Amino acid sequence: MRKAKLILDKDYVISPIDPRIYGSFIEHLGRAVYTGIYEPGHPTADAQGFRQDVLELVRGLKVPVVRYPGGNFVSGFHWEDSVGPKENRPRRLDLAWKTTETNEVGLHEFADWAKKAGSEVMYAVNLGTRGPDAARNVVEYANHPGGTYWSDLRRKNGAADPFDIRLWCLGNEMDGPWQMGSKTAFEYGRVANEAAKVMKWVDDRIEVVACGSSSTTMKTFGEWEYTMLGECYENVDYVSLHRYYGNPHNDTPDFLASTMDLDAFIRTVASICDAVKGRKHAKKQVNLSLDEWNVWYHSNQEDQSIYRRDPWGTALHLLEDHYNFEDALLVGLMLITILKNADRVKIACLAQLVNVIAPIMTREGGGAWAQTIYWPLLQASTLGRGLSLRPLLTSEKDDTSHYTDVPVVDAAATLSEDGSLTIFAVNRDLKEDAALTLDLRAFGPLGQGTHSVLHHDDVKAVNTESAPNNVRPAETPLVMEDGVVRLPAASWNVIRVKAGE
Ligand code: AHR
Repeated sequence: MRKAKLILDKDYVISPIDPRIYGSFIEHLGRAVYTGIYEPGHPTADAQGFRQDVLELVRGLKVPVVRYPGGNFVSGFHWEDSVGPKENRPRRLDLAWKTTETNEVGLHEFADWAKKAGSEVMYAVNLGTRGPDAARNVVEYANHPGGTYWSDLRRKNGAADPFDIRLWCLGNEMDGPWQMGSKTAFEYGRVANEAAKVMKWVDDRIEVVACGSSSTTMKTFGEWEYTMLGECYENVDYVSLHRYYGNPHNDTPDFLASTMDLDAFIRTVASICDAVKGRKHAKKQVNLSLDEWNVWYHSNQEDQSIYRRDPWGTALHLLEDHYNFEDALLVGLMLITILKNADRVKIACLAQLVNVIAPIMTREGGGAWAQTIYWPLLQASTLGRGLSLRPLLTSEKDDTSHYTDVPVVDAAATLSEDGSLTIFAVNRDLKEDAALTLDLRAFGPLGQGTHSVLHHDDVKAVNTESAPNNVRPAETPLVMEDGVVRLPAASWNVIRVKAGE
């Protein structure tokens, strides 16, 4: 039996949790939109063509914010193509994903869909092939009440009330050579500053996210953040971080240790923000938007053959990762890492939401189902609200191929307004259970708790349309003997107790 100990106190608080850390992402890519959220003619489609079965699964996740319309897609996008009568909207080549975009779903439709899903829109502007002018126009179109060219056009197109979009991304992954209109850090910092300035002049209630480097693995990482923030620090509110992990060599212990990298990534970007703050003698703090995170690797090879079969097609089956149980464990660990950095990570978007590297899958004309990774996200989003508590965690440690001193048990804890204490914990050991000693004496007498476990004997187990519940959490009353809770080998655990009863 492996050993770990967790001490919690309601006075040891990392930060209130910004609910937007449970955000997600829908890009015009593959089948995220077409045959994902939107499929007119599907048996569950509503009058606007939105699949109700998908909406139901999305609502289950309680997604506060959905980033849209890209991603790489946005860097060649003309937002004007996506508004007005559908029959007049142009079909365009999307160079990011080598597909044809029909613009059948655009800004109005997506805003309607987000309302139905109970989510806010986080809208990305094109700072690749376009610039501040197009960016300020779309803010005016979306948020200005009326009496101007763009706001009246919105009204004419059927939306009398503004969409009131409060969160805006200033482009996407602008240091990536794969990006249309990619830039140097200085070039991007200048254009981001000017775009943010005029967008906020149109609507001073909005917040904007500047692009950080596309990944820790980029040569530009670090220097990019420092240089570009030097140009735009005063006018931006968040810096983006993107991070995906994979297990292509089937080294599960090493894969499950990837959150050591994520944690270092987050801390490094926060430090760079603070270094620029110091250099500028600024009072304001720039926080972090981890607006793309997930596991992504299963579909890489298949994507190449899809392109060979159907160049410039629409609704291609791109980036359709079929997630297994070990992926759900890593997603759980990533959520734990986000919660432990809740003082700086204020927005996080699981990339993405439907079909494209997503927790929800659909079949055209057929069913919709929850992938394995759906479950930790659902539990964290619905239960992990309120305060993120500082977990004083000691655990046995292991080394893996790329990481040293990896805690066998990792955990985060939250305290909600109704006094519910929730502990999210993963036992990384694939063979041995872990004895987790909980020291909760600061909470006084505790009521009967619950213990939900996500486990499967096969780490490669998946959910499918015909077996959608193969990997799914099971809840039992909490068994705690002398303060010790048993975490099964390879498991995601959600332990809930009512404090002060
Ligand atoms: O989420 C898929 C893609 O990953 C996004 O379009 C891009 O921003 C990132 O490289």
